[in-house]
Amino acid sequence: MQKTNTFYKNYELIDLGDFKKLESFSGMVVERPCPQASSKRSLPDSVWEEADAVFDGKDWRFNDVKVQEGWLTKIDTATVELKPSSGGQLGIFPEQAANWKWIRDAVKEQGRAIKVFNGFAYTGLSTLFTSAPNSSVCHLDASKTSVTWAKKNAELSGLGSNDIRWIVDDVMTFLTREYKRGVKYDGVILDPPAFGRGKDGKTWSLKKNLGELLELCGLVLSPKPAFFVISCHDQTMSPRDLSKTLNTVSKGFRGRVESFEMLIQSSNGSSLKSGICARMKVS
Ligand SMILES: C[S@@+](CC[C@H](N)C(=O)[O-])C[C@H]1O[C@@H](n2cnc3c(N)ncnc32)[C@H](O)[C@@H]1O
Repeated sequence: MQKTNTFYKNYELIDLGDFKKLESFSGMVVERPCPQASSKRSLPDSVWEEADAVFDGKDWRFNDVKVQEGWLTKIDTATVELKPSSGGQLGIFPEQAANWKWIRDAVKEQGRAIKVFNGFAYTGLSTLFTSAPNSSVCHLDASKTSVTWAKKNAELSGLGSNDIRWIVDDVMTFLTREYKRGVKYDGVILDPPAFGRGKDGKTWSLKKNLGELLELCGLVLSPKPAFFVISCHDQTMSPRDLSKTLNTVSKGFRGRVESFEMLIQSSNGSSLKSGICARMKVS
């Protein structure tokens, strides 16, 4: 188990219950639906009513216009823009915080120039913690809006002139092309959704396409890999199941493999299950 909100100090899971969660991102308090929050809330309604923004599963309601316009949050050395988007997203998944630190350390520990592929990269949080003087990053997402947002986050974080390739494409189409071109990567980061849509309407299904994706990753992995991290939110898969899928790409790895449930610790001590992760790195 990994508790994730020690690295992202400006984030707080204030309360959860009645299938909702109340979170603070750099002081902006947001209420959103949360199917996993099946217990009772621990804080009174008066606290929940103070939320600056509420997403009811369909629409946003704003009590503070600053949320509507978007605001900045700081995570260690990174600065990221948050803004309400369709589906209740804000541009960040705080449960990934344990991976951001792990990725940054894995890049640093290599002590050589490495090339990293970040697929399903959304607004670029993992990219920000991968980008370093000794790394080049290929950031890929099927959504142009997300890639533009990620680029802005890199600029806000002072990484605008770093070696980052920004790609809008379908992950399978792109990796197939990279394989044919003989391109190799030393590190891979994947956070695939259950379902998604590629650039040209091509559909992504975790259940159907995960095996094929990992095979492709195995083909583009360099002979001296540095790290591999995959996370997802499939309720039917255990961390162990996910780590087994890494067998496809683990040949070149001489190091530690770990898998765990991603947890967000709330202020009242309860934990919110927020997906699973499997990762390995050469030590
Ligand atoms: C769960 S989010 C990833 C979150 C991100 N890794 C983070 O930690 O902030 C899933 C992302 O996958 C992208 N996506 C969905 N289907 C895709 C596909 N076929 N190829 C590339 N990206 C895809 C979506 O646009 C979305 O940004």
